[in-house]
Amino acid sequence: MMKNTPYPQGIDTPVTSSAIFMVATIAPGDDNVEKVKAWCADVAGRVRSVGKRVPDGNLSCVCGFSFNAWDSLFGSTRPASLHSFREFGVEGRRAVATPGDILMHIRADRMDLCFELATQLLLPLGAAVVVIDEVHGFRNFDLRSMVGFVDGTENPVGQRAVDATIVGDEDPTFAGGSYVIVQKYLHDMSAWNSLTVEAQERVIGRKKLSDIELDESVKPSNSHSALTVIEKDGKEVKILRDNMPFGRPGSGEFGTYFIGYARSPESLEQMLENMFVGRPAGNYDRLLDFSKAVSGTLFFVPSSDFLEALGQ
Ligand code: HEM
Repeated sequence: MMKNTPYPQGIDTPVTSSAIFMVATIAPGDDNVEKVKAWCADVAGRVRSVGKRVPDGNLSCVCGFSFNAWDSLFGSTRPASLHSFREFGVEGRRAVATPGDILMHIRADRMDLCFELATQLLLPLGAAVVVIDEVHGFRNFDLRSMVGFVDGTENPVGQRAVDATIVGDEDPTFAGGSYVIVQKYLHDMSAWNSLTVEAQERVIGRKKLSDIELDESVKPSNSHSALTVIEKDGKEVKILRDNMPFGRPGSGEFGTYFIGYARSPESLEQMLENMFVGRPAGNYDRLLDFSKAVSGTLFFVPSSDFLEALGQ
């Protein structure tokens, strides 16, 4: 990264074994907005305080803010591509938009660290925010998603991850920031498990046990991995994902919390359009026959310098 570029929040952290995803709205009233603003500058300190107690616990927190909250919190100068989550799809197969002003993406190698940080982050906010969704995710065997396939394989790494996710010269005021979409999915596991492994592999586009990509000659064009590969100006455009399985077997809840970071929401939206509408239209992602999106929100993740400056 070039000198003078603001430091991003810790988006590209090592894979952790636990995560808490919290989406909150700000309660009405100027006092509450002021409280949240002051809190923004304090988040990094709280991560340090909790994280220091377990030095190898890899605790981190990324905070994002939606279009809905931006102006009241930070004024009318907005990140160039920030807008409300755009819905895609048709009735029965829709990427739904749901409310949310603030995202907290808490990751660590131990759930106690995530839990303590979530608690310490919410304490100073009190009734200034209402947490409308909270998901505790766990890392499954071999980094496998809830549907049993290894997840995250094609993520970019190192500088490539930075280039794919961190805003640069295209929006100098918000350089060091990133866009993130979260979606909560619920799976029909009995329908999914009634497929043969070979049929599941054609849905994902990869081998289930070995995680090797299916050969182009046999990979269906409506497989998940075919529809999420996109290009711009002849070059593949990558995003950075850190999905987590979650659920309550006793209640029949089996879910995937999707989280994807990108330098522009456009790439995330293109993938969603391919999945939900299809490429071409109608050739949609078969994974959606077994997965229902029940939430969806877009946030901008300002640089850590931006958040810190709010406290000065
Ligand atoms: C039901 C929720 C989802 C599940 C269970 C899921 C699971 C997977 C799995 C198992 C893979 C293959 C391994 C890998 O490269 O990670 C994959 C790849 C991928 N997924 Fe998803 N995914 C979900 C939703 C999404 C959404 C909503 C997007 C984008 C908006 C997305 C974007 C991608 C991308 C970009 C790849 C890599 C494609 C490649 O380069 O081959 N996924 N996903």
